[in-house]
Amino acid sequence: VDSVSFARRAASLASALPSSPPDGTIAFDSGHAFPGVLPDLSAEADRALGRYRAETLQYGPRPGLPGLRQWIAEYLVADGATVTADEILAVNGAKHGLELVCRMLLDEGDSVVVTAPTYFSAIPIIRSFGASFVEIPQDRWGLEVGQLAEVLEQSKRDGRPLPKFIYDVPDFHNPTGVTMSSDRRIALVELAARHRIPLVEDSPYRKVRFEGSSMPTLKALGGAGVIQLGSFAKLMAPGLRVGWVAAATPLIARMAMLKTDAGSSPLNQRIVLEFCAGGKLPAHTERVQTTYRTNRDRMLAALRRDLPEATTRVPQGGYYFWLALPDGVDGKAVTREAAANGVTIIAGNRFYGNPNAGHPRNRVRLAYSHATGEEIDEGVRRVARALRTVSEARSVAAGSAEPA
Ligand SMILES: Cc1ncc(COP(=O)(O)O)c(C=O)c1O
Repeated sequence: VDSVSFARRAASLASALPSSPPDGTIAFDSGHAFPGVLPDLSAEADRALGRYRAETLQYGPRPGLPGLRQWIAEYLVADGATVTADEILAVNGAKHGLELVCRMLLDEGDSVVVTAPTYFSAIPIIRSFGASFVEIPQDRWGLEVGQLAEVLEQSKRDGRPLPKFIYDVPDFHNPTGVTMSSDRRIALVELAARHRIPLVEDSPYRKVRFEGSSMPTLKALGGAGVIQLGSFAKLMAPGLRVGWVAAATPLIARMAMLKTDAGSSPLNQRIVLEFCAGGKLPAHTERVQTTYRTNRDRMLAALRRDLPEATTRVPQGGYYFWLALPDGVDGKAVTREAAANGVTIIAGNRFYGNPNAGHPRNRVRLAYSHATGEEIDEGVRRVARALRTVSEARSVAAGSAEPA
């Protein structure tokens, strides 16, 4: 292995596989589904493997099963967008959709606009194409469009190339939980259209809403200027790896050709289609919303009771709390100490495209999606203990540094 000359995109990656955490570890790190809310798909799988086996056990059409593409298009139309089945590509989850967008749009040396912070799995995907990040801050209404406008104007004045696309998670943003306001959405779509930069809307949590009303999607507002990534992962089952890209047909055609899997699994697509076309999705969506609302409320109560030093926004949907720990506390140290205490969380530095750009270091993300109520209570107590251990070590170090 020492003699292998790795490509740039692989050279800096970890050379060991991650080890599984010890038994009894509580997982607040990954956005896994709550096991109790995964749907029973046995009837759908039975039909998919029996009645539909000539379709499902065969290579499938590259763009996806026509019936599923049609169903997704109607689902998006019901959500306010103007989309036809020709504008849908079935993919192996939203992350796969993002990879195809990058393959289609990015050359080495290009740049991409992301929020600071942004979805951490998007970062290595974009980076692996040799692109750099233009980070734009967020406030409680979402991406600060005024700042992006200034950055784009400045690039134009300097004669520098504009970013190749703008990536954002407008609904229940990962990790911050922020939902972009309607005004901001309109402003963002207008700005992107004015500069002719595609907007990539990644919205897997859109239907995981606990309260309040939905804002229009960027796709509904921006039409062909927007590439939307969607997924059945958060709505149904992440293990199926079924998602979609909604975009203008010439883009869908190119991404279909850039797919190296000869088309996503027809078996999994058929299972999803049988479930959705069978009318089961609305009741299931309600179960999903109730489950994660209960988990959010349980974690919020635990945070207020046992971790009052941390401040956070209360997300109206999605899977995550983004905590600001007291000033000067290092999120990475708390994450390490929490793992030693038997709870996994994610340090905030992982969510920045340019991690050395002076971002706050005291942030951590906690997922409430996967744990049971008891685990949420116990896990927050363990995070609180980890914070106290790290804070005490800090004050001892600061004390010993003081002049005698
Ligand atoms: C913003 C965002 N996009 C995409 C995904 C992944 O979606 P999929 O499992 O469909 O690839 C996630 C999952 O955590 C996410 O938070």
